[in-house]
Amino acid sequence: MHTTLQHIHPHHPESAHIEHASSILKQGNIVAFPTETVYGLGARLSDIAAIQKIFQAKHRPIDNPLIVHVSSIAQAAHIAVVTPRAKKLMQQFWPGPLTLVLKKKASVPDIVTAGLPTVCVRMPANSVARALIKAAGEPIVAPSANTSGRPSPTTAQHVYHDLKGKIPLILDGGPCKVGLESTVLDLTTRTPRILRPGAVTYEQLKKILPNLCNPAMTRKKIRVISSPGMKYRHYAPKAKLILVIAIRPQAEKQSQGPLGLPPRQQLRSCGRVAMTDKIAILDLRQEKNLNLIARNLFSQLRDFDQQGVDVIIVYGVEEHGLGRAIMNRLRKAANYIIT
Ligand code: TXA
Ligand code: MG
Repeated sequence: MHTTLQHIHPHHPESAHIEHASSILKQGNIVAFPTETVYGLGARLSDIAAIQKIFQAKHRPIDNPLIVHVSSIAQAAHIAVVTPRAKKLMQQFWPGPLTLVLKKKASVPDIVTAGLPTVCVRMPANSVARALIKAAGEPIVAPSANTSGRPSPTTAQHVYHDLKGKIPLILDGGPCKVGLESTVLDLTTRTPRILRPGAVTYEQLKKILPNLCNPAMTRKKIRVISSPGMKYRHYAPKAKLILVIAIRPQAEKQSQGPLGLPPRQQLRSCGRVAMTDKIAILDLRQEKNLNLIARNLFSQLRDFDQQGVDVIIVYGVEEHGLGRAIMNRLRKAANYIIT
């Protein structure tokens, strides 16, 4: 299959390109599109055969449920039970990188939820994503548009690298603004819990949900039971990744990279990089701008793979605010964690 990369304006998407993409969806096919978090691989909610194509293209295990993307709160109410608490969160954080786990309604096919009685719903902020959902005339089911186990794609080129020949169209709306997947918040349990930290932070949600579970308390439990996707190794580059936590930055000469390796200027760096052809060190400790780290992290990991390094050593950030999401992805990508 030929895969077309179609440039599209990220803020004012050309209607011809949106119409073309939605006609592909309506013919029973799947399309990759940008969101503000990462690129998604979408099918129409009602099209079970197309949804199966998503699992095949990504090599995604069938027991890992998908997020349903909507373009309004009203549309969310067709597929899920929107409680007053859920509505309040939608009003506050939608459109944006917050996914809610809610009780599902009968209109959601089992393949989407892997047979669970709950469904993940989110309204993306990205204009291309919203225009596509509107043109499709129904919600779009979409996981991240990467091969399962690889870092999520934050550019159309990442999607092309993983899925060329497997999908007909990638809408290229440029690099994603957030760069990490959405926060997944479970509202179906007595105390709400964050299943996956993201750009809508624990600290922000705690203000609205005073009984929100402390992420440190629930980390282990969640991985085992609540979110089927959590049991797979995720976001992993090909190289072995060693994550170093809780070591204070040492005063180093500016002319030297971390641990004395040669420093490298990266195209979209998210910290200080030093490397030989076999080892890369990414030191995030001195980068104050967590948004920048989040935006470029997956890209950086993919770049290291392109450069063929065997080992990546990452010095992490503090687990607070967006730092929780950054460290969550690094922990999952890591082969070894040094504390
Ligand atoms: O930012 C994002 O959320 C991106 C963009 C494309 O929207 N999507 C994304 O989808 O990251 P995916 O499929 O890669 O991750 C969805 C996560 C998985 O860990 C999955 O197991 C979990 O959400 N999930 C889906 N439905 C669930 C449910 N009913 N209950 C608990 N977890 C669920
Ligand atoms: Mg994913």
